[in-house]
Amino acid sequence: MQALILAGGKGTRLRPLTVYTPKPIVPFCNRAFLLYQIEILRKAGITDITLSLSYQPDKIEHVLGNGSDYGVNLRFITEPAPLGTGGAYRFAADDIRETTVVFNGDILTDFDIGRFIERHKDLGSVATLALKPVENPSAYGLVETDSDSRILGFLEKPTEEQIEKLKINTINAGIYVLEPAILDLMPMGENRSFEYDIFPEILKRQMPFYAGIMTDEYWRDIGTPASYLTAHQDFLRGEISGFEVDRSDLTDVATKATIDSRSIIGEGCVIKPGARITNSVIGPGVQIEEKAVVEDSVLWAHSRISTAAEIRGSIIGRSCHIGRNAVVDHGSVLGDKSTLTDYTKV
Ligand code: GDD
Ligand code: MG
Repeated sequence: MQALILAGGKGTRLRPLTVYTPKPIVPFCNRAFLLYQIEILRKAGITDITLSLSYQPDKIEHVLGNGSDYGVNLRFITEPAPLGTGGAYRFAADDIRETTVVFNGDILTDFDIGRFIERHKDLGSVATLALKPVENPSAYGLVETDSDSRILGFLEKPTEEQIEKLKINTINAGIYVLEPAILDLMPMGENRSFEYDIFPEILKRQMPFYAGIMTDEYWRDIGTPASYLTAHQDFLRGEISGFEVDRSDLTDVATKATIDSRSIIGEGCVIKPGARITNSVIGPGVQIEEKAVVEDSVLWAHSRISTAAEIRGSIIGRSCHIGRNAVVDHGSVLGDKSTLTDYTKV
């Protein structure tokens, strides 16, 4: 059994965060995002993991290495040009031809992959999709099943009318178990989408196509800044189980600074007297000056928050400089190296 993580998208909806950092290694609670997927695969006993890349592949390879630090073997495959989700699978999995767990590379979940694979085998399925009920399915693939969990329909990015008509809310959670027979549904080297081409083709051919429906498991696509920020807050609230975080003590915190118990502070930070940090994740090497306030926010590495500045509900990229008394609020997202002069309000 092997796994393939589709991590070749440009992450356009996460810009400006993804201008210098490709989405798979965007920090989540101070660790590269893909490490959370690698962790749940490893827990299911899957250690041969291929990363299918296209955008900034060298940076991803450099950060994750060969996987030995995480107890897995990582293989990196870069497409000559983006081949789409299905085409990327064909390109990466063709030479192995065994049952493969495929992951969209921007899904944060604590789903039990081992049980999901067992279900796929018990059902004699050729393709099994994990599904998740959501409030608004319009940004996802809507999946219709019968009472035996057999998939009857797949509709990518449904319109309001289609959602209304079908009266279902179970979406494709971006985790699949696929048998090699699926490889034969697409030509090598051509652009194909699972969502628009392959899943409809599986239905047309009436191959055994089933769903595993998530219930209480955590699931979120972190592909937009709002969702990325919400995922952090969910994590800090303890809604996502089974992952360790580094709550570093290698940080210089003034005794008169206030940091709540939820917040995560990276290594080598300097936090000055009177600073207040609540429900936030602070990346390594960040400097927070006197009386600055950071609330419900995510700060990437090496930024500097000057005296009495306030950051609320926002994301600050790497190596930013926030001037004195500046206020950053309302879901603002600052790209790497942004500089705000003193007293600026965003
Ligand atoms: N290697 C490679 N090559 N990877 C790709 C390519 C490609 O050409 N295109 C997209 N990907 C990767 C992205 O990096 C991402 O990890 C994953 O495939 C899905 O692409 P997104 O662009 O994030 O798709 P989406 O979020 O709009 O929709 C998908 O995910 C939803 C769940 O979050 C679909 O699979 C929906 O059906 C699903 O509901
Ligand atoms: Mg996505």
